[in-house]
Amino acid sequence: MTTSVFPNCQLLYTCCPRPLLLNRTPGSTSSNRRRLTLAVTATTRAMEAERKNDDGALKKGIAEFYDESSGMWEDIWGDHMHHGFYDPNSTVSVSDHRAAQIRMIDEALRFAGLSEDPTKGPKSVVDVGCGIGGSSRYLARKYGAKCQGITLSPVQAQRANALAAAQGLADKASFQVADALEQPFPDGQFDLVWSMESGEHMPDKAKFVNELVRVAAPGATIIIVTWCHRDLAPSEEALQPWEKELLNKICKSYYLPAWCSTADYVKLLESLSLQDIKTADWSPYVAPFWPAVIRSALTWKGLTSLLQSGLKTIKGALAMPRMMEGFKKDLIKFAIITCQKPE
Ligand SMILES: C[S@@+](CC[C@H](N)C(=O)[O-])C[C@H]1O[C@@H](n2cnc3c(N)ncnc32)[C@H](O)[C@@H]1O
Repeated sequence: MTTSVFPNCQLLYTCCPRPLLLNRTPGSTSSNRRRLTLAVTATTRAMEAERKNDDGALKKGIAEFYDESSGMWEDIWGDHMHHGFYDPNSTVSVSDHRAAQIRMIDEALRFAGLSEDPTKGPKSVVDVGCGIGGSSRYLARKYGAKCQGITLSPVQAQRANALAAAQGLADKASFQVADALEQPFPDGQFDLVWSMESGEHMPDKAKFVNELVRVAAPGATIIIVTWCHRDLAPSEEALQPWEKELLNKICKSYYLPAWCSTADYVKLLESLSLQDIKTADWSPYVAPFWPAVIRSALTWKGLTSLLQSGLKTIKGALAMPRMMEGFKKDLIKFAIITCQKPE
């Protein structure tokens, strides 16, 4: 799987070149072994520290990006910060986009096999990477469920709580700043674990999936809707250089670590013995989304809010054509992955 855990392999040489120069005097094998062990330990620690630094910088970037851009997004697009689900090739008017975003939530629930009947739906939900809480408030209304959202952005958490209070949902939906990779919840708490377009931000996909599974109650449903790169062919070991280059550019604009494929998620879920694992490529159903976002950014309101938001948001807007290119070239996949935690 492609992850960004150790993106800088040079570290092996730059941090501790000396311990690797071993004493070759005959008879000192055990002391050489000790030095080698020390060298390996030091190198591992240095790499771990570097990874933590990288993760810290990424988290800070994500928090700032959403602190800066969420108000503008809400002004133009409302409280869902995710793709809409459209009929392929349909022409849609701007007002249809919010309906398409709600449809995305309903289609995801349907795909996972959750009942439309509120009495049979989930009663406790964790919304991992909750944005300003659009999914949670929708699920709280639909099922009467108690929803808890986490985000890295303090601005989002505050706004999500304010919207819940204003909509009379304060007792049903609450939000806090917390890391999806170290969730502030006990094991086995939620009967729906919901991650709508946050997985792409996670630098350690194994830890991300582990945490989703850990907080899920026995029998719970897990729904991950996320950006993936295409699955590799059996003959391939990695993406093509041009593909890596395009994804790297997108990563810089949207504060994303290395991408993985849908098949990588399936492997992770299988390794944790999850049941009824299902996936689908919904790229054709989200195709009208990016052109619509670009059109909305080019309106007077869009342009003025963009300029007021700040550099990170502008950088994000400039990367939108790259997302379209990635989808068109079959490199980027809009994936849904669902499964059940065993009873
Ligand atoms: C594209 S937004 C999606 C928001 C929301 N799920 C929705 O559909 O409206 C991505 C969200 O993931 C959150 N996120 C990214 N990395 C995170 C992490 N490590 N822990 C918690 N939230 C994270 C961001 O703060 C942001 O709220």
